Amino acid sequence: MSHTVLILNGPNLNLLGTRETEVYGTQTLDDIVASIRAHAETVDVTIEDYQSNIEGELINRLHAGRGTVDGVVFNPGAFTHYSYALRDAISASELPVIETHLSNVHAREEFRHRTVLAGVCLGVVAGFGATSYRLAFDALIDHLNT
Ligand code: DQA
Repeated sequence: MSHTVLILNGPNLNLLGTRETEVYGTQTLDDIVASIRAHAETVDVTIEDYQSNIEGELINRLHAGRGTVDGVVFNPGAFTHYSYALRDAISASELPVIETHLSNVHAREEFRHRTVLAGVCLGVVAGFGATSYRLAFDALIDHLNT
């Protein structure tokens, strides 16, 4: 069965490629999504993608995903660390969501060690730069195929 996966990105990730490149790398978000899309085509998966700096828009996109996509690779940016509203939206979506981070949040400032979202996600991938997205995508597809 062919699947549809949403690649969802939160605040400040539109600046990838120019933002703190020593932490987040030099690839732009478009580069990352294009490379996932190319990979997805080889396994017959359709990619939708959406980025917003606004919490409510991310919530709306998760709601819209109910019944229209099969799973979500989600980098929630700093919302990871404090957004109970996004946590509730993930639960309400009833979708498998993989929390995904470019950086190893556990090796950084203390406030990044806490995630209020991981407990309602299928799993977490962090610390592998753009590769985190591919690892999260592959794990999601394995999950959907089992
Ligand atoms: C991030 C980690 C977050 O702590 C940070 O606020 C981001 C990016 C990451 O991909 O490493 O915006 O989610």
